[in-house]
Amino acid sequence: MDSRNSQGNSNSSGSSRDKKAKRREIQAKKKAIDELIKRASAETDHLASFPPFRHFDRNGLSVYLESGSGDKLSSSLKQYIQNLLKVNMEKQFGPDWPMEEKVKRRDMVAPEARYIFVHEDPGPSANGILTQTDKGSLVGFVHYRFTLEEEIPVLYLYEIQLESRVQGLGLGKFLMQLMELIARKNHMGAVVLTVQKANAGAINFYTNKLRWEWRRVTKFFAKRLIARLKLHWRKTESVEPSGVSEESSELG
Ligand SMILES: CC(C)(COP(=O)(O)OP(=O)(O)OC[C@H]1O[C@@H](n2cnc3c(N)ncnc32)[C@H](O)[C@@H]1OP(=O)(O)O)[C@@H](O)C(=O)NCCC(=O)NCCS
Repeated sequence: MDSRNSQGNSNSSGSSRDKKAKRREIQAKKKAIDELIKRASAETDHLASFPPFRHFDRNGLSVYLESGSGDKLSSSLKQYIQNLLKVNMEKQFGPDWPMEEKVKRRDMVAPEARYIFVHEDPGPSANGILTQTDKGSLVGFVHYRFTLEEEIPVLYLYEIQLESRVQGLGLGKFLMQLMELIARKNHMGAVVLTVQKANAGAINFYTNKLRWEWRRVTKFFAKRLIARLKLHWRKTESVEPSGVSEESSELG
């Protein structure tokens, strides 16, 4: 046998073995990430791991939090979500609102949608047991999901919506801390959201107050706000999306 050929063959079989091993490694990583997302989504009460976050009592505001799922929303909860979204977001979206509203209504009830509902504290009840009617009025909610973004498992924040009467009292910051804790606990690589260019108040909140950074994502040429988290599973590989930019003027 020609020595050049045998050398060539052993090189090529070596490189095909390498390729196979690499493919297997990538598949194993993908599988592990899918498992993470599945496991995180299967949990229906993420608040259970963070008892101190069940109540917020600051700046004259006393509220408590409750978990929810998109496929278990009562009709009054659905109505509440729709109303608050309209009040808070219609102006931000302008002429795009009717279309956006349709999308939000569909997203609202997805089985993978996870919620944190914020209720006013009703105070102590006579027998210590809260019924549905004396739960305390809702003052806002967060809708989030676990998903894959640019190959990173993320907690995607679909909505954070507070009624105007409870804004500016630190509740938003508190809820965002909770989101980061839930993301960490479930081994997500980041917390991600998109924000309307016109929503200057929210942009100020995320970038100046929470110090989140902009990341361009290739999908839809949009940019998302990302709070990056340091996590064990990321130690072995680089999962940084490319094209970091500090500008906030080209938001999708
Ligand atoms: C954006 C939102 C969630 C922030 O929650 P919040 O409870 O009002 O914010 P906090 O009180 O925790 O504010 C934290 C800091 O951000 C600042 N901030 C919050 N919202 C702001 C706004 N709209 N404009 C300017 N600054 C704002 C606060 O002044 C505060 O600063 P400080 O720490 O120096 O006092 C809430 O205002 C909201 O629901 N807005 C309407 C819906 C919306 O736009 N959601 C975001 C869609 S992407």
